[in-house]
Amino acid sequence: MDEGRDDESRPLPLRHRKIWGRRNGPKLSAYQQSLVDTLLPYLAVEPDAGCDPRDYFASPAEPESLKPPAAPLPPPASVSEVWLEVGFGGGEHAAWQAQANPHVGVIGCEPYISGVAKLLTKIVDDNIPNIRLYTEDARDVIAALPDASLGRAFVLFPDPWPKTRHHKRRFIQTEMLDQFARVLREGAELRFATDDPGYRIWALERAMAHPKFRWLAESAADWRARPGDWPQTRYEAKALHGVPSFFRFVRTA
Ligand SMILES: C[S@@+](CC[C@H](N)C(=O)[O-])C[C@H]1O[C@@H](n2cnc3c(N)ncnc32)[C@H](O)[C@@H]1O
Repeated sequence: MDEGRDDESRPLPLRHRKIWGRRNGPKLSAYQQSLVDTLLPYLAVEPDAGCDPRDYFASPAEPESLKPPAAPLPPPASVSEVWLEVGFGGGEHAAWQAQANPHVGVIGCEPYISGVAKLLTKIVDDNIPNIRLYTEDARDVIAALPDASLGRAFVLFPDPWPKTRHHKRRFIQTEMLDQFARVLREGAELRFATDDPGYRIWALERAMAHPKFRWLAESAADWRARPGDWPQTRYEAKALHGVPSFFRFVRTA
């Protein structure tokens, strides 16, 4: 087995070494690089087994430690609950949710550094205090979370991996749903979107078979139309594989 490669038949270890997908894109601008160098360390989450995720937002802003050009961020409002987004891409959705819900702490996970730089830029431009970032595999953070510690989770347009031999790379797996069921509190939502018809069926089959999730849909319109509190992501705008679908699953008792 290659060094750092996941053996996908084994249970998920705390820290994953292999992420299927790219980390690096075009060279960052000098400004983006400076945000990665100065602001990212300050906003980065280090998964700590059992740590209440609200604690990731408890540290006061230390603007004096931030060197220009990163503007001082305001201290976060007291964070009453934490939401987590897996693979935030350019960060439009994470930023929107954080701004619309100032008492929620949003943990965004994304290894693609150009996307991370985009979200850092947005955080500075709009002075968004309630986002923390993890730039590795989201499964590290999820595995470290205590039971019932998340109020919502988003998996929006994950890489579809359409070839049968790659299906095991899909983020939604029954084992991953077990993890989400563990970390989401009762009544919390898991939101999933895809434009890939195969992934749509794959995720639905697994979520509907899961004893701890119930699909919140009463009619076809519920999954064909994006809810008002769910902004469009960059990937959705491209809609490469087909018509996007939007799913809300609630964590049952
Ligand atoms: C197809 S893109 C969609 C991005 C964004 N959600 C959107 O809708 O525009 C999938 C993203 O998931 C990220 N990703 C893949 N595996 C991941 C993992 N294990 N943890 C966190 N992010 C991951 C990729 O880097 C990529 O940016």
